[in-house]
Amino acid sequence: MYKKLLFILLLSFTFGQEKEALPAGEHAKNTKKYSQYEKPEVCQSCHTDIYQQWKRAMMSQSFTHHWDEIEYFDLAVPHAKNDPNFKEAVDGCNGCHAPLSYLAGDLPPPRPEEGSRANEGVSCDLCHSIVGVKNNDPVNFNYISSPGRIKYGAKPGLESPHHVTEYNPIYEKTELCGSCHNERNPFGVWVKSTQKEWEEGPYSQESVKCFDCHMPGAIGRSASMAKIDTVAQHVFLGAHKPAKLRGAIELSMHCRESEIPYDGTALIQIELFNAKAGHKIPTGSVEDRILWLHVEARDSKGNTYHLKVDEKGFEGEKYTIASDELAYQDFSDALGLEDFEGVARDGVPVGDRIFRMPYFDQNGNMTIMQWNTRELGVDYRIGPRETKIETYSWPMPRDIAFGEVEVTATLNYQKLVKPVAEYLDVPEEESEITVMNKVSTEFEVYE
Ligand code: HEC
Ligand code: HEC
Ligand code: HEC
Ligand code: HEC
Ligand code: HEC
Repeated sequence: MYKKLLFILLLSFTFGQEKEALPAGEHAKNTKKYSQYEKPEVCQSCHTDIYQQWKRAMMSQSFTHHWDEIEYFDLAVPHAKNDPNFKEAVDGCNGCHAPLSYLAGDLPPPRPEEGSRANEGVSCDLCHSIVGVKNNDPVNFNYISSPGRIKYGAKPGLESPHHVTEYNPIYEKTELCGSCHNERNPFGVWVKSTQKEWEEGPYSQESVKCFDCHMPGAIGRSASMAKIDTVAQHVFLGAHKPAKLRGAIELSMHCRESEIPYDGTALIQIELFNAKAGHKIPTGSVEDRILWLHVEARDSKGNTYHLKVDEKGFEGEKYTIASDELAYQDFSDALGLEDFEGVARDGVPVGDRIFRMPYFDQNGNMTIMQWNTRELGVDYRIGPRETKIETYSWPMPRDIAFGEVEVTATLNYQKLVKPVAEYLDVPEEESEITVMNKVSTEFEVYE
């Protein structure tokens, strides 16, 4: 009895050691075959709802999504041809976006239109064959992949006719997600740090994890023959889903005085509260994303006026107030252009407050090519449960109409700055404007 126990202990120890020794991150390139991973359609027959959810999530489109295709094939791959120092990093895109191709060493993978297995993206079997994250320190696709008959998950003791199931604690840890949602580029810059932001924020203290907000549990069946239980919904809603963005930041607003003489100055204050996200907003592809606050006043005659945000005077603030400046000159490095002036930096009304963190290239110009980033600028995003206050001092125009003035603030979200989307011919969808929230207040103008 005692001997048997010791044997099992020893076995699990060596087994554990063996799993730790499996390659991860860059070391895992070209160590597997496509055929070791089952296709999502195999899982579909039993896990029907989970499959349909995943199919609609960005996770299944991480390689085929058109903006990914453009950035990878039209910017990153040519850039690595011009400058071989980028080869490793550009192969590395696939460690997260086309993991099966990376593991199989099929690099660069065939274009999406060729219908290869790269198109499966972050697939069922890729996630459910992960047995750990190297050193528990998630970054740059350092998940440990061990494909085969065993599917790992968060629940112990489940039975399936198709596979063996095994509980693995990594399915309850944010490190699983962080292995792809944290990224350090060749210059050591943290170009993506969603899991780190979470760790530093209030939700980690309360053990509210990625799963709780992105894979919420609901009563149902996880497979057609399974018992009723709380099942993790594989919806992975994010910035591509207006239903997730709407209301994630709450707005409140007031005017310091409710009655103002016609030659006075209105003072308006707006509070922006990140009530819903477990990390900063925006997070993830921060180089692409902007959030901006547009404020307008409308007098009793229906004339509208655009209000510009008051400056606060912090370092790097100019990147957080919309202007006509040009940026993204480093497209020339990837596209081999000469005398390239750049593209408009913001494409939103001048004077609006932008919540973002700029990325800078080797010349100190803003870039959206995260692999080419040498330095990060001011971090003016809204942290989890953080409230930011913006003020607007508005000396009213001489011809303002007496009576009520209504002030409206609209908080807009854009996944990819419009001028860049237009320059690179990225489908409209990527630069569409999602209204996250809207609020208004009023005051009286008297003679
Ligand atoms: C023939 C049906 C069938 C097929 C095909 C199938 N599964 Fe399952 N799977 C099940 C059943 C049944 C369970 C147990 C569900 C329960 O009891 O809650 C299960 C459970 C799981 C679990 C939960 C494990 C845990 O411990 O939490 C995972 C993960 C899983 N399957 C992944 C997959 C993947 C990935 C595929 C495709 C490669 C797949 N399954 C294909 C029937 C199937
Ligand atoms: C308290 C709930 C909550 C938690 C915890 C949480 N998120 Fe989110 N997440 C949100 C909300 C709300 C949004 C939509 C707003 C946004 O895009 O920032 C979002 C957006 C995202 C996006 C899209 C961002 C973009 O710009 O494309 C990603 C990726 C993401 N979350 C990943 C994660 C990961 C990984 C974790 C765990 C480390 C996590 N989230 C934890 C609520 C949460
Ligand atoms: C990004 C990684 C990821 C992908 C992709 C993914 N899963 Fe999961 N899956 C998880 C995690 C994490 C859990 C456990 C979540 C929890 O318990 O909160 C889970 C849970 C499950 C469960 C158990 C559900 C339950 O609560 O009983 C099944 C079954 C499952 N996944 C099947 C699939 C199938 C089938 C696909 C593809 C259609 C898939 N998964 C894609 C990460 C993933
Ligand atoms: C193998 C790498 C990998 C793992 C592991 C992974 N993700 Fe992702 N995830 C991605 C990629 C790549 C995308 C981006 C898809 C795109 O936009 O091209 C993505 C997209 C998302 C999105 C949608 C973002 C949007 O903009 O709409 C959410 C939400 C998300 N992941 C959450 C999670 C959570 C939660 C986990 C852990 C259970 C997780 N991810 C694990 C690679 C991964
Ligand atoms: C460590 C994992 C990882 C690596 C390496 C990586 N990405 Fe990503 N990428 C992600 C995740 C996760 C997201 C989604 C983040 C979010 O939703 O904001 C993403 C988002 C994107 C997006 C934006 C998608 C959208 O729809 O808005 C593009 C484009 C992209 N990646 C291209 C690349 C290219 C090109 C490379 C290589 C130079 C690369 N990525 C390297 C994980 C990675």
